[in-house]
Amino acid sequence: MKIPFNKPWFTGKEIQNITSAASFGHISSNGIYTQKCHTYFERKYGFKKVFLTSSCTDAMEMAAILMNLNDGDEIIMPSYTFVSTTSPFILRGASIAFADSLPNHPNIDLDHAEELINDRTKVLMVMHYGGVAVDMDKAVYLAEKYDLILLEDTAHSIDSYYKGKPLGSFGHFSTCSFHETKNISSGEGGMLVVNDENFIPRAEIIWEKGTNRSAFSRGEISKYEWVDVGSSYNPSDMIAAFLYAQLNHLEDIQQTRINIWHRYESNLKALANDGSIELPLINDYATNNGHVFYLITSSKSERNNLLKYLNSKKIQAVFHYLPLHKSPYYKDKYDGKPLLNTQKFADRLIRLPLFYELPLEIVDMICQKVIEFYEK
Ligand SMILES: Cc1ncc(COP(=O)(O)O)c(C=O)c1O
Repeated sequence: MKIPFNKPWFTGKEIQNITSAASFGHISSNGIYTQKCHTYFERKYGFKKVFLTSSCTDAMEMAAILMNLNDGDEIIMPSYTFVSTTSPFILRGASIAFADSLPNHPNIDLDHAEELINDRTKVLMVMHYGGVAVDMDKAVYLAEKYDLILLEDTAHSIDSYYKGKPLGSFGHFSTCSFHETKNISSGEGGMLVVNDENFIPRAEIIWEKGTNRSAFSRGEISKYEWVDVGSSYNPSDMIAAFLYAQLNHLEDIQQTRINIWHRYESNLKALANDGSIELPLINDYATNNGHVFYLITSSKSERNNLLKYLNSKKIQAVFHYLPLHKSPYYKDKYDGKPLLNTQKFADRLIRLPLFYELPLEIVDMICQKVIEFYEK
């Protein structure tokens, strides 16, 4: 039997919720389940305003429109992140300045980010890799000092915290993913969080195809019209119904994943202690939401050999991310400065299988195979 890297888990309530959404006779967007999800996030995490979207990428597109970026405006973001996070800003005519990762963590190096700030810089994007917080005191300080819009990419970081405050509640905006690889999923899906009240009225319009339909739905106006740019970012209530079933199991899902994460960590500690591998760093200010378990090998060839070895044992381990500054689309636009820590994680990081139904005995077996590889 092959052990997959990821396996979506269903709580058993998804279909019931979808049937219930259908029974209300309103299955397009902004129905009862969309509102339940919005309220859930706003109450639990103190987010000012939430908009479910079809993906995290779509949420970023909404944020990019709201930022009113002009040609030549710059956004600083990590190079070590997912491919689709640049396009929303390129589409608005902005330029990207890629910051390196920290030496001991894939998160953005904020000192390097500060060096990249210039007169054209408008936005600082941080991504909490594996759900582990970026140093948000420092990120907020930089945003205030240089008058930047702060965007948190919380694709990995549902229900994770910095010094007790929820991730996604620091930035002017945050963008979350409910893709099937995430802790909480609706297959594809995402959410834009708007914490700065000034952006909320326009966000509502952009979400609804550039119309004031949300105000119409609340009975505030007698007809809805085209009032701004926008697109079809608002998902069907069926997606929200599915997501809501998952949200009702959030605690159980998080705890189960965290238990798996700790089992990996304790099994592989000896290998880290003898210097064979590096294990994930969780700073004191951060929580761990069990989204990603990774290890760092000592070279790219060792990483590739370990992946091959695990694959031969029918264990699907994977690597990511390919540095964005070197991607086929961007490499000719990049000034060529090496981002050494980004390269380190791109070359040497391996993610091990982590999903709700992964039994701890299988985690033990996977770790045994990793240990065997280093004993060879
Ligand atoms: C860090 C990060 N940001 C953004 C995204 C995009 O998410 P989505 O697929 O929901 O658009 C992903 C996807 O995996 C991601 O890992």
